[in-house]
Formats: sequence, C-alpha cells, structure tokens
Amino acid sequence: NGMVAKLTDHGATVVELHVPDKNGKVEDVVLGFDSVAGYESDDNQYFGCTTGRVANRIALGKYKVHGVEYQAPVNNGPNALHGGLDRALSRVKWEGNIIPHKDSSSVMFTYSSPDGEEGYPGKLDITVMYTLTDKNELMIDYKAKTDKATPVNLTNHSYFNLAGAGSKTVLDHIVQIHADQYTPVDDTLIPTGEIAKVDGTLLDLRKGQELKINIEELGKTPALGYDHNYVLNDLTGKLREAAVVTENSSGRVMKVFTTEPGIQLYCGNFLKDQVGKQGKKYPHRSALCLETQHYPDSVNQPKFPSTILEPGMTYSHTTIYAFSTK
Ligand code: GAL
Repeated sequence: NGMVAKLTDHGATVVELHVPDKNGKVEDVVLGFDSVAGYESDDNQYFGCTTGRVANRIALGKYKVHGVEYQAPVNNGPNALHGGLDRALSRVKWEGNIIPHKDSSSVMFTYSSPDGEEGYPGKLDITVMYTLTDKNELMIDYKAKTDKATPVNLTNHSYFNLAGAGSKTVLDHIVQIHADQYTPVDDTLIPTGEIAKVDGTLLDLRKGQELKINIEELGKTPALGYDHNYVLNDLTGKLREAAVVTENSSGRVMKVFTTEPGIQLYCGNFLKDQVGKQGKKYPHRSALCLETQHYPDSVNQPKFPSTILEPGMTYSHTTIYAFSTK
C-alpha cells in the first residue's frame, strides 16, 4: 500500500520509511544518513537505531543485580545513556536476514552480546524483527535471552517528521499520549522515583495538542523541551494504543501501539542542523521520537516495573508504528 522501509544491519537501524500522504504522495518521514560514515559520525544522535542493552538513562551508570554491583560507562553528563559506547547495540553490526510472508515481509536481525559488554552481565542473545504489513504498519518484535540475570530495555530511536524528514520543525504536529502519569526527573534527567499525575502540568497530552503550545515553557526546564517518560495507562502488558501523532498539512497520522509500560517523548531538542539524507538539514526540533520502553533508571527504582531478565526467561516486547491519513 505504498510504504517502503529500508533498514541496515549497522545498529539494526531504520534508515528510510516512505509513507503516503492524503494525496498518495510518498515521502520519507524519518531522519538518517546516506552512508555508514554518517551513522558513525558525531552527527548521529541515535537516528533510527535499536537502542540498548538498556535504553535511556542509568544514574551514574551504577546498578546492582542480586546484590552484585555493576558499572556501565558514563556517557551523558554523570549518567549512562542508551547502552554505552562503541559496543552499544546501536553501534554494532547485527546479522540480517530477509523473511518473506504472504501479506508482509520481515527482516530479522540477530546479535549475541558477550558477557560484560558495555558493563552488562550475561551473554545476551537478541532478535529484533521488523515487519512491514499491507496495512502500512511497521511492527517491531524484540526477543532476548540471557545466561545471567541482567537488565534489558530495548527500544527503537526513529526520529519522525510526518511532513517529511528535513522539514522545519515538528511543533505543529498534534501529539496525543494515553498516559495519566509520568516520571518526574532531576536536573540530569534521572527519575526522582515519584510517579506523578500529568493533570495540570505542561505534559498533559491526553487530549492531543500541538507541540508548540507548551514548548517555550518546557524549553526553560532541564529537559529543554519534551524529553519525558510517560507512564502509559493499562499496565497489563498487552498490546494497546499508546500515542497518536497527526500532521495536518500532509494528513499523515501515526499511531503507536506497544506492550511496554512507558514511552519517552523526545522532540529533537539536540538536533543541530546536521546534514542527513540527500543533503537535507535537520534543524532544532525538526523531528520527534516516541521511544516505547521501561522507565528510565528502572534498575535503581524498586517501585518501577522491573527490567531484570533472568536466565530461562524470554524478554519479549512488540511495538507497532501504524500509518494512515485523514
Ligand atoms: C533521547 C533522550 C534525549 C537525548 C536523545 C539523543 O532518547 O531522551 O535526552 O539524549 O535521546 O540525543
């Protein structure tokens, strides 16, 4: 139905995602680069990649599993972010295989992360399966197994601009998130441990509104804009709608479904005019990420849903980005 997804085994990354608008015109709606050199450069802010082993932040990179202390590399102020340095899942080469089906097609990426890689215990065998369906959905199925108890929190870090990648900003995108609560953070974006109501805050997106409405006020906070973890309603672990993004000029609508308990809305506060695919520039706030995941620093927060995977268990999550027009 007009959609094309292009992927690379570098970081099991979404490189291009071509989606029809209300007139059938197909455009690439994700940020990325034309070459691996771009993905390996400092201009790459996790564009489209599989993020982990532990997405988001760990306070000071320190955590304990069953009483044993571990240190993940600190790479974001005082904290650990998005799985570490050169061997983060976003940087390694995965093995990719194409799997055709009748009404869809899949690419299955596998990677075996050795015990201790980037400060995480256990050999972790990971599968990330991308499926493009005839209903214009990009479905991502994550599976992992370990031989030692270890934290796992995988997400996809695609940057979307539904008017087409390389457009001015996403501030006129209407974003709705089905979350009554969020996890407040300190000045280094580590959760305080509290689960607070969005009601009466700048973060209330339950009804859906343009990002521009509260962006100036949010820009004055340590998050520098939207960069928050929402606690999704319905924590039973079933696949349910988490967010809806609408861009009126193109008519493109993106619905996000997930089994995860949380979603980080990040709206490109650190984009810096870097040059991406086909020479297009990516200005400040010209894309948004909806990173389905467990809450930040869960490994140090006993009240948050646990991210510890035990040997013999299978980590299993699904996220769908479903496209339509109105
Ligand atoms: C987001 C994170 C932001 C920023 C960004 C990468 O997931 O929440 O704070 O680090 O990744 O530039």
